[in-house]
Amino acid sequence: MKIVVIGGTGLIGSKLVNKLREQGHEAVAAAPNTGVNTVTGEGLAEALKGASVVVDVANSPDWEDAAVLKFFETSTRNLLTYGVAAGVRHHVALSVVGTDRLSESGYFRAKIAQEKLIQASSIPYTIVHATQFFEFLKGLADISMVGDKVHLPHVLFQPMAADDVATGVGRIAVSPPMNGIVEIAGPEQFRLDELVRRRLASLRDPREVIADPNAPYDGAKISDKTLLPGNNAQLGETRFETWLTQTAAQTPGAHPQPTGVAVTTTKEKESHKKAG
Ligand SMILES: NC(=O)c1ccc[n+]([C@@H]2O[C@H](COP(=O)([O-])OP(=O)(O)OC[C@H]3O[C@@H](n4cnc5c(N)ncnc54)[C@H](OP(=O)(O)O)[C@@H]3O)[C@@H](O)[C@H]2O)c1
Repeated sequence: MKIVVIGGTGLIGSKLVNKLREQGHEAVAAAPNTGVNTVTGEGLAEALKGASVVVDVANSPDWEDAAVLKFFETSTRNLLTYGVAAGVRHHVALSVVGTDRLSESGYFRAKIAQEKLIQASSIPYTIVHATQFFEFLKGLADISMVGDKVHLPHVLFQPMAADDVATGVGRIAVSPPMNGIVEIAGPEQFRLDELVRRRLASLRDPREVIADPNAPYDGAKISDKTLLPGNNAQLGETRFETWLTQTAAQTPGAHPQPTGVAVTTTKEKESHKKAG
C-alpha cells in the first residue's frame, strides 16, 4: 500500500516511515527537504499519485498565533484538495489529547481548525489524539518560563514515547478509517511539574520547576484532568524510566548513569521547539 507521510522527516514522521517500510508498505517521506511543501502545494500532486493513505504528522515551523493558524489551515486545505483529486481513501492526522479543551492557546486553536477541515472533507479520516511526548518535556520547560524559573501546574498527565506514538499512528494508518478521534497515551500517569523536574534533573539542567496552580499550559488555563485521555485510549508500552535509560544509551558519547541521567539528542532539541 502506498502511504504518504507528510512531515515524514520529523520526530514522529521518520519513525513512522521506518515502521511502515518494515511492514512492507511503500511509505513516502514528504517534507520540504524531500520536495513536498503542503503550504505552497509544491510536489504534492506527484507525491500523492497512487496513494491509498495520507498521514499528516507535520508541524508548523512558526508558532506565533497567526502564523501557526495559517500553517495548519493552508496545509490541511491543500492536502485535502490534492487528496480528493488523487483518490486518497484514508486521511490520518496527528493531534493532541485535550485539544478541544485548550482553545485559549493559539497553537491549539490551529489544531482545532485543522481537525474541523478534516471532519468537513469528503475523504474518510481518523484523527489520532496523542498525549505529550517524553521527548517534549524539555520543550515544555522552555515554553513555561517565568523569569529564570519554570512554572507549571501540578496537574495529571499521561505522556508517551515518540516511538510508541509512531507505532500507534502506524497501526491506525493501515486500519479502516474511523471517521472520528482515537486517543493514544502512555502507560503511566504523572504530575506535570514533577515529571518536567525529573527530566531536567536527568539532563543536569539547573532550572528550578515551580508548582504553580495558576501557570497556563502553552497559554491555556488547565485543570487536573484537562490533559488526560479518556478510558478507551490505546496505551503505549514504554515506561518513563525505560525511555530515559534508552535515550541515554542511544546518545553517542553519553554514559547511562545509575540514576537514569540522560543527555538530550540533537533531534530531541530540534523537536522541543514547541507544542503538543
Ligand atoms: N510535542 C508533543 O508532545 C505532541 C503531542 C501530541 C501530538 N503532537 C503533534 O505531533 C505532530 C508532529 O510533531 P513532531 O514533533 O514529530 O514534529 P517535528 O519533529 O517538528 O516535524 C515536523 C515535520 O513537518 C515538516 N514540515 C514543516 N513544514 C512543512 C510543509 N510546509 N510541508 C510539509 N511538511 C512540512 C517538517 O519538515 P522539515 O524538517 O523539512 O521542515 C518535519 O518533517 C504535530 O502535529 C503535533 O501537533 C505533538
